[in-house]
Amino acid sequence: MKSYSIKELLEKQPVGEPVEVNGWVKTFRSNRFIALNDGSTIHNLQCVVDFENFDETLLKQISTGAALKISGTLVESQGKGQSVEIQSTDVFVHGTADPETYPIQPKKHSLEFLREKAHLRVRTNTFSAVMRVRSALSFAIHSYFQQNGFYYMHAPIITGSDAEGAGEMFRVTTLDDKNPPVDEQGKVDYSEDFFGKETNLTVSGQLEAETYAMALGKVYTFGPTFRAENSNTSRHLAEFWMIEPEVAFNDLDANMDLAEDFIKWIIQYVLDNCGDDLEFLEKRLLDEEKSKPQAERSEMSLTEKLKFVVENNFKRVSYTEAIDILRNSKPNKKKKFQYPIDAWGADLQSEHERFLVEKHFKCPVILFDYPANIKAFYMRLNEDGKTVRAMDVLFPGIGEIVGGSQREERLDVLQDKIKALNIDEKELWWYLDLRRFGTATHSGFGLGFERMVQFTTGMGNIRDVIPYPRTPQNAEF
Ligand code: 4AD
Ligand code: MG
Repeated sequence: MKSYSIKELLEKQPVGEPVEVNGWVKTFRSNRFIALNDGSTIHNLQCVVDFENFDETLLKQISTGAALKISGTLVESQGKGQSVEIQSTDVFVHGTADPETYPIQPKKHSLEFLREKAHLRVRTNTFSAVMRVRSALSFAIHSYFQQNGFYYMHAPIITGSDAEGAGEMFRVTTLDDKNPPVDEQGKVDYSEDFFGKETNLTVSGQLEAETYAMALGKVYTFGPTFRAENSNTSRHLAEFWMIEPEVAFNDLDANMDLAEDFIKWIIQYVLDNCGDDLEFLEKRLLDEEKSKPQAERSEMSLTEKLKFVVENNFKRVSYTEAIDILRNSKPNKKKKFQYPIDAWGADLQSEHERFLVEKHFKCPVILFDYPANIKAFYMRLNEDGKTVRAMDVLFPGIGEIVGGSQREERLDVLQDKIKALNIDEKELWWYLDLRRFGTATHSGFGLGFERMVQFTTGMGNIRDVIPYPRTPQNAEF
């Protein structure tokens, strides 16, 4: 007897043949109809048991969540809702799930409730769909870069440098926290620590990726990154995954072209390969939005939004133009922004980003040429002396999804910047070497993977698109 995944079985439909499937019970109706799911697809397989011919104690063990092996014949279905079903001849119970204590029952559970059951929530339709899309998106990202001549580079997770210069890092140490070695000034002596220096979890693989781009030409990283920022929002995680391409000889325009092409390609991949899951997620989103006031509901369905991004050019706007638009905008004049925009130089908050994308341009926007002093030290200074070749890609419902830049390739300019920011030049000796030996124009960016999964699945909270979210006060599982 051939064993099938449910996905395979529903695709091939070997009607009349003996088949075997394994999976978990979604529902069991009338002591007769088992809806079985094995995670291979959003669809369940209906398995019919003739309860008259089955052992009663066995039937009692079949309840939502139980793991079963079912054998029988695949037949055309009599009932509505499915084209084929299994006429079961044999049911083997791998494991039961006590209905009194199994938390995932066939009813609507809130996303908040399910977050506390993160080890079981992937058994729901919503989370299995999200996690299949997440997997497809990862594959799409590798495919895009591999097809376009990029090499996958593994940046270190433990690092001695602070790439973003923001200082929001998790320390890595093996020192005795109760009795650490101290130096003459009474400060903790990290020279006695495991690595002989202060080390942290990386906030970005960019600086190391730059070293590889300056030899391999086109590289990308795709790995976990860590930020100890105390941001309890629906778009921030303390541990998230980032994709960072870095390309030698690319200027900022080429960097924007790459970001736009890359994003469109991976979204198209999801449209082409995740149809069933998207259909489910689209309905889920519609349902969720019904409980919101009309003004907050989105004008487009999930797939319409994805197609819109693929089919339209991203609007490229300089920071200076954006500030003008924001300064003269209705919400600014009516003091509706929490952070009013009054002068050039202000950092943009997500309320401003979302206004530009959702209300003003109504399409993805790439903002570029930001003021130097609100961006990281490594960005290339423009001729005006006050802006840098930075770019942020802003998405509807998300805000910033990509941050990137053309890098400062001039040794003296970079050294001046490092001095002005009081960064220890010695820490960056290897990064400065790139500017000493064969320096060249180069650019790259970072895509926040979970924010992209949020966009493609329509999930409102970033905690619901990663298996085990790490956020302030929360590292269960
Ligand atoms: O804008 P960021 O900080 O850029 C960098 O780290 C650069 N080194 C990237 C580069 O040029 N190679 O982060 C990049 C993206 C953001 O646009 C956002 O999508 C995501 O990473 N991101 C987060 N996602 C979830 N939780 C957080 N706490 C995030 N912080 C940034
Ligand atoms: Mg950023």
